[in-house]
Amino acid sequence: MMACSLNYSLMVIIFLLYSSSSLLFISSEARKDSASAAAAIEIHYHTLEISSLLPASVCTPSTNFKGSNKRQSTLEVLHQHGPCSRGPNNPSAATSPPPLLSEILSHDQIRVDKINARIKQTSYTKNQIKGKKVNLPVQSGRSLGSGNYIVTLGLGTPQKTLSLIFDTGSDLTWTQCQPCVKSCYQQQDPIFNPSDSTSYSNVSCNSPQCSQLSAATGNSPGCTNAATCVYGIQYGDQSFSVGFFSKDKLTIAPNEVFQDFLFGCGQNNQGLFGNTAGLLGLGRDKLSIISQTAQKYGKYFSYCLPSTSSSTGHLTLGKTGNSRNVKFTPFVTNQQGSSFYFINIVSISVGGRQLAISGSVFKAGGTIIDSGTVISRIPPTAYSALSGAFKKMMAKYKRAPAYSILDTCYDLSGYTSVTVPTVSFTFGGNVRVDLDPSGIIVAVGGTRVCLAFAGNSDDGDVGIFGNSQQKTLEVVYDVAGGNLGFGSAGCK
Ligand SMILES: *[C@@H]1O[C@H](CO)[C@@H](O)[C@H](O)[C@H]1NC(C)=O
Repeated sequence: MMACSLNYSLMVIIFLLYSSSSLLFISSEARKDSASAAAAIEIHYHTLEISSLLPASVCTPSTNFKGSNKRQSTLEVLHQHGPCSRGPNNPSAATSPPPLLSEILSHDQIRVDKINARIKQTSYTKNQIKGKKVNLPVQSGRSLGSGNYIVTLGLGTPQKTLSLIFDTGSDLTWTQCQPCVKSCYQQQDPIFNPSDSTSYSNVSCNSPQCSQLSAATGNSPGCTNAATCVYGIQYGDQSFSVGFFSKDKLTIAPNEVFQDFLFGCGQNNQGLFGNTAGLLGLGRDKLSIISQTAQKYGKYFSYCLPSTSSSTGHLTLGKTGNSRNVKFTPFVTNQQGSSFYFINIVSISVGGRQLAISGSVFKAGGTIIDSGTVISRIPPTAYSALSGAFKKMMAKYKRAPAYSILDTCYDLSGYTSVTVPTVSFTFGGNVRVDLDPSGIIVAVGGTRVCLAFAGNSDDGDVGIFGNSQQKTLEVVYDVAGGNLGFGSAGCK
């Protein structure tokens, strides 16, 4: 069980210390406004059981998933490697063991490097499918290593069920396809077979859709002898998908059906996609599912990522009409050409106290929100302030060695619970977001926990508000309206 509370005794001591020096002020104002007087000086903590940081071995879906505010177009979001993705429909899910956290974190760094390369636009190299040359970037994956949350959609007629990684950092949706001309990795669902679908068709090389691939993937499309448009997308670390650019019926829910959805029918696929059938691109570009379903959903979607892999979240396409506790920060739109969602970080607070970081620090490289990056990246100047403040408030715990990209770690052997300072981010428009404890510390094995942030190597690199820090938040993308919303308690 996770207990989230202020540490009242400490708060009271600090309150008394301050109030003794401003007794008159406190006594006259406190009755009217004691909450805000205390808020200025209190230190906020979460106390949680260490075991709550680890996923349980059984799946406990978020109870509010089927709540009244959800639409037909609400899909359940599962963690790729947790017990919830191993249901009776997916008996083979357990066949390949989940990756180690250290592997996830090194893949995470590859993704971050690719995001930076893509934003800075670099060079390309060549790859091949079936003797046809397709340009693929090596330094700049247009799309980026695997995220770790999946949703299930239907494709084709009759409809076949596919579990796809959902990724706000890329645009093209693709799935592995028979006959897997070159290679398919092992996946949970049966591999999609276009010849079993009566609604499937190839996109031809001279169609306008084929030329949209350049923007969506960063690679010029290829063309087969039969004039079928060929896409190629490379994710770095030898992850890629190459295949035929296709159209088929996409089914989100029984009454949420899209004819002629454009996607990649992957004939040569390799990399960090786990047992999933491929990837669902939720970026800003024309070929993303968000743009392709804009008529119906108005480029509006929201999701909640669960706090552990033994719980579930949701992805909803379209407005739910339930944005009561959601506060909106504007997207930064001077990056229109990119598929990324840029926002502004204004400040970070630890234990209720704002860190002394000059606003220009966050402006240098800008910040994106990304569903696929696990650990948030912030400018090194901001990271050292964050880590410094965190260490001060965690002084009673024994330090432990760094773990992969995480350098602020503690040995909690002998403890069953831990008290950590709250961490909140303030985004443009004065939108303050309090992180769930599962986004503040991460258990890295045994009794070791680490601060769940990393510094970039350069203040000019892009900051990334990653998926650990988004956990349990309702994150609302009003792409058409130019705003990103954050609400609390979107899921557990
Ligand atoms: C799609 O194109 C590929 C390559 O040209 C071809 O092998 C396949 O038969 C085509 N499928 C359909 C349904 O036209």
